[in-house]
Amino acid sequence: MVVESDMSNRSVGLGGLPDRDGHVTLDACIQDHDCRAGSVAFLEHFEHPVSIARAVMERTPHVMLVGEGAAQWALANGFSERTVRIPEVTERWKEWLRTSEYRPGVNNENAPAGKGDATDHDTIGMLAMDAQGRMAGSCTTSGLAFKIHGRVGDSPIIGAGLFVDGDVGAACATGTGELVMRTAGSHSVVELMRQGMEPLEACREAVDRVLRKHPGLTGQQVGFLALRRDGAFGAHSIYNGFNYAITTADRHELQDAAFVRTWQ
Ligand code: GLY
Repeated sequence: MVVESDMSNRSVGLGGLPDRDGHVTLDACIQDHDCRAGSVAFLEHFEHPVSIARAVMERTPHVMLVGEGAAQWALANGFSERTVRIPEVTERWKEWLRTSEYRPGVNNENAPAGKGDATDHDTIGMLAMDAQGRMAGSCTTSGLAFKIHGRVGDSPIIGAGLFVDGDVGAACATGTGELVMRTAGSHSVVELMRQGMEPLEACREAVDRVLRKHPGLTGQQVGFLALRRDGAFGAHSIYNGFNYAITTADRHELQDAAFVRTWQ
């Protein structure tokens, strides 16, 4: 929610870069220890899509609401719309329209404005465990910049951008959503941990699956983060530059994920 409210962030929340028609469309999901889940996708004009996802989980018999229907439901359930105009975002969209070249890149979320590739991403994914060992996870993003209007990425898809099963552990993903969705990435990581892999190994195998299924892939990032029910964790990405924050009772630090390839 903090990052969703940060209007200087160009890949999450209402400050994100728009699709090619100039709409900022938001995807988010949440899942708990018992596999209860809520999700919203292709949602415009709400500051906290992850809170609406949580409300879908807690207050409806469904898992996923999208677009206009999700907006109607949110308004009817106490969420307010917010309109944000950010001149820099409009400028970057107009600049992109000059070439209209769609090119998901690597780690653009870490690049200063104007220094990344043609499109910026990516997702905030969170995995959590409470003092009783109960787990939960969430994702929120404005998705890939300059995507086709209507495109939904991996982040609101349970099993792709996020999967939590308190019997085993949890995983979330970042990067080019299409690569993650095609391989059901986060679900794969959790199932690999169920079969006995360490969190790091499971993330590495999920990355390798993406690479095996996309021969010739270059210049697109995918990263997975995993937390096992005993508290062990790990992360692996295709390229360097994917980092993640760890917070425990006595630790708060940023770590670099392991990676297969180096991106200059
Ligand atoms: N991983 C975020 C997206 O592809 O939309």
